[in-house]
Amino acid sequence: MPKKIALITGISGQDGAYLAKFLLKKNYIVIGTDRRSARSNNWRLIELKIDEKVITVDLDVTEINNLIRIFQKYQIDEVYNLAAQSFVKSSFENPIQTSIVNAITPLSFLEIIRCQKRKIKFYQASTSEMFGKHMVKKQNENTNFYPQSPYATSKTFAHYSIRNYREAYKIFAVSGILFNHESPLRGEEFITRKITIGLAKIMLGKQNKIKLGNIYAKRDWGFAGDYVEAMWKMLQTKKPKDYVIATGQNHSVKEFINEATKILKLKTIWVGKGLNEKLINTDNKKIIIEIDKKYFRPTEVDSLKGDYSKAKKELNWKPKTKFKNLVRMMVEADLERN
Ligand code: NAP
Ligand code: GDD
Repeated sequence: MPKKIALITGISGQDGAYLAKFLLKKNYIVIGTDRRSARSNNWRLIELKIDEKVITVDLDVTEINNLIRIFQKYQIDEVYNLAAQSFVKSSFENPIQTSIVNAITPLSFLEIIRCQKRKIKFYQASTSEMFGKHMVKKQNENTNFYPQSPYATSKTFAHYSIRNYREAYKIFAVSGILFNHESPLRGEEFITRKITIGLAKIMLGKQNKIKLGNIYAKRDWGFAGDYVEAMWKMLQTKKPKDYVIATGQNHSVKEFINEATKILKLKTIWVGKGLNEKLINTDNKKIIIEIDKKYFRPTEVDSLKGDYSKAKKELNWKPKTKFKNLVRMMVEADLERN
């Protein structure tokens, strides 16, 4: 049997790297789009030792002509559209660019696939951020969307476009509604990595303190390595459907910090309230964490917790990594790297 060919947009990102490794193990030929610009950003592929095993195509996904050319050059079987302006906070400052990448690019892909004779399966990276200001304890595939940021509205546009093209043109296109997933390869701007890299540097005397925003926000945090398997499984089903991928548990940012300091055996105490809340190192009385207004968002998603029972039943998927192990994995990797 000839090898299947997968196209991953955003292969230089956290999920792109883990998915590439997963698909290579499944014997796929992996092509990844990477807008290398002036800097080299394939450190994740290097860490996973797969930088020389994937074919990278240099392009910005907003250039539709370049996308068309990839389909002319390669006989692609599966597309995983992971490229995005994925940082929610930035989307408030760059709403238009965010929407072009996150909303219009998926639509461009759907249009291109609609015009191909070859049957191409398409995975779209949807997100739990679409639930935003929801009214339910656990969110599943039937929960209403109430997006709270330009990032979430752009992803909701893409999500509905997938469903529309699936129904209108019978394209095998699915959306994975993934809740937050982290790893040692997570971008440093996201809260979990900001905490683990910050604490590692403080321990090693390379940083004084960490400044954070809303530490009472709760997220359903899983391990990215577990979640990429669900992406692949969604494209192997008979009927294309959307699935929630989550752990079913959530924790506040503060709980994440407490778990990380416990792993590092740091003796700490929380003092103060609101903007004056601080985490103090009780051994040397130094401030480790303080609150800065700058990191609050104009509209926040207070709490997310996913119900992944449909994925469990129909995809035979469940998360393998527990919260405590995830935090440990990230803390230890950052200690080692720094
Ligand atoms: P990430 O680490 O931020 O990676 C995003 C990737 O998109 C990077 O490779 C980035 O390239 C690329 N990209 C951005 N704009 C591009 C453009 N105009 N042209 C080409 N490439 C572009 O994100 P992630 O955590 O791996 O997430 C993957 C996808 O899942 C994203 O769509 C995200 O919105 C979605 N998602 C993530 C989570 C999560 O918790 N991680 C949850 C739900 C959904 P550069 O390296 O050049 O910036
Ligand atoms: N990044 C960051 N930095 N977040 C902070 C900070 C800070 O200094 N202080 C508090 N937070 C809070 C945010 O306000 C948010 O409530 C929570 O920590 C998580 O923030 P992020 O790690 O930036 O992730 P996110 O939940 O906004 O978005 C991530 O998950 C989505 C899935 O639900 C991203 O990966 C999105 O791309 C993804 O779709």
